[in-house]
Amino acid sequence: MAKDFDRMEDSNRSGNPSIHEVSDPARRVVLRGSGAALLAGLAPAAGWAPAGLSASALAASVALGGCAATGGGAAPPRLGFKSVPAGAADRITVPEGYTATPFLPWGEPVGIAGQMPAFKDDASNSAADQAVQMGMHHDGVHFFPLEGSPAHGLLVMNHEYADDGLLHVGGMSDWSAEKVRKSQAAHGVSVTEVRLEGSRWHAVRPSRYARRFTASTPFAIGGPAAGHPMMRTATDPEGRRALGTLNNCASSLTPWGTYLSGEENFHGYFATADQPTAHERRWGLRKSGFGYRWHEHDERFDAVRHPNEPNRFGWVVEIDPYDPTSTPVKRTALGRAAHEGAWVAVTQDGRAVVYSGEDARFEYIYRFVSRDKIKPGGFRANAELLDHGQLYVARFDAGGRGRWMPMVAGQGPLIGFPNQGEVVIKARQASDLLGATKMDRPEWLAIDKATRWVYCTLTNNSSRGQGSNPAPDAANPRAQNSFGHIIRWREEGDYDGELFEWNHLVLAGDPANERAEAKGNIKGDLFACPDGITFDPLGGLWVQTDMGPAAMNKGELARIGNNQMLACDLATGEFRRFLVGPVNCEITGAAFTPDSRTVFVNIQHPGETPSERSDPREPRRFSNWPDFKPDGRPRSATVVIRKDDGGVIGS
Ligand code: FEO
Ligand code: CA
Ligand code: CA
Repeated sequence: MAKDFDRMEDSNRSGNPSIHEVSDPARRVVLRGSGAALLAGLAPAAGWAPAGLSASALAASVALGGCAATGGGAAPPRLGFKSVPAGAADRITVPEGYTATPFLPWGEPVGIAGQMPAFKDDASNSAADQAVQMGMHHDGVHFFPLEGSPAHGLLVMNHEYADDGLLHVGGMSDWSAEKVRKSQAAHGVSVTEVRLEGSRWHAVRPSRYARRFTASTPFAIGGPAAGHPMMRTATDPEGRRALGTLNNCASSLTPWGTYLSGEENFHGYFATADQPTAHERRWGLRKSGFGYRWHEHDERFDAVRHPNEPNRFGWVVEIDPYDPTSTPVKRTALGRAAHEGAWVAVTQDGRAVVYSGEDARFEYIYRFVSRDKIKPGGFRANAELLDHGQLYVARFDAGGRGRWMPMVAGQGPLIGFPNQGEVVIKARQASDLLGATKMDRPEWLAIDKATRWVYCTLTNNSSRGQGSNPAPDAANPRAQNSFGHIIRWREEGDYDGELFEWNHLVLAGDPANERAEAKGNIKGDLFACPDGITFDPLGGLWVQTDMGPAAMNKGELARIGNNQMLACDLATGEFRRFLVGPVNCEITGAAFTPDSRTVFVNIQHPGETPSERSDPREPRRFSNWPDFKPDGRPRSATVVIRKDDGGVIGS
């Protein structure tokens, strides 16, 4: 989500100290991949694999979640493509020798037998239709191989939010329960079966795996908040079963073969009283939210009548796409946040370490270390793995050092928290008390399992150092940070180490800018607002951008062009532009097949208006990508990118 709504993402008024010190961006490390180290790290229990996934395919597919793996220790050819120039056209541009093909746009049926309504370009599909079609606003995406194949698998992706101006006939006029249900059905997660035939990917429809999770799907609640009084509602007096997931942003694969998805800006869907409570204010809730108006026809989203309902969102959710009958779970032990997503590393002794960030101004970065080891047997064998363990929040100190601070009810500054359930539900308040570092909107993370460096994009924070807001500090060194930066850290010893070293991979910017703090230190092609970040199966690092439509191609960002995807050579620090998207879209999510010969990239909200809600009288005002029908409307979609010679992406 680009979020010029992000002006609504500044809820942190705690007084944690800032460090008035600019870090040394020249510090760099040279990273080396090691396939052996990767596989050893990912397969602590030899011989295990989730259903439908061979051990070798599992290792390869898990690599998509972020790890460098170079067979035999030799570095693969990197940046083997010609840079794509920045541009502002309403099309996809990829390097010579590559083809990008739109795939599975919003409204295509996911393939549930007997329920495959065709997309209607006049927005007249019903809510029931939308509930079995691809949602809007494609975001995080992953490929789950079937029977270990790089050419046949499940494409699982998030549908972050909905543009009600495009979604309904007449947009939000004549607002009704049916329109609310359709909007809710356009959110969530989709599972589609896909197969490569020749050089083209096709959706397999019908498929027994095809599935939609929406803002109404039942979810189990796991971890310390399950059953907590703050989680109980009129429809769920036990506080153990929530309806729906929403604003699902980034995603990742777990080493045991499941999908993790972050519930990001959940606060925008609820309506509060004129004067929100202190707890509601700290979580950004307010009277009219983002204007979704769901509360007018679905009282669950009326926080005056149901004040605990918002506490049931803001979690990382876990889905097993291989079992179409499985119940998805909200993993509360990982803490509540405007979660971009969550990413798993494995300690030497086989425990899961889950990193997550909170994409909101001046919020925090978290780490969870599981109590138990990963077991063979996929989702069922690890059904409670993420429910038991220790949650930490990060403090980045000057001098490139940092500390993970445990978040334990009743201990230290958290003396006033009576139980761990309240700590995780009020993770922001607990982090305020612990003096965690207020970051410039942490988005995606990527884990280099060969070197244990963990990368995090900090997309931007134009409020840094402005007025009474926190000043620049070591980790967030620029006032009015309109370009964003990428930070990385590595714990002492293993992923569960208390102390870590850190530095910046890059401060994005443009040397032509007059403002010193907007020049950055990019080597290679310019970009702004890093958001998606992932390692491909061969150890290549990829970065995607999300400049909001109000800022794109204007002001300080004028020379950057449309949102884009770049590769980074970690040995030299060079960034090279690989893809430029259509007008006013966001580039987000990159799912590489295990052989790295296909990458699925999501194009979110082509043609989005600066208000982020289209005028239904003018749905094609900026774009009609990807169909380019004269009377068609823009549709979020995946693009399938292949090298014309069938080679490895990026080579
Ligand atoms: Fe949904 Fe933070 O991007
Ligand atoms: Ca973003
Ligand atoms: Ca994002």
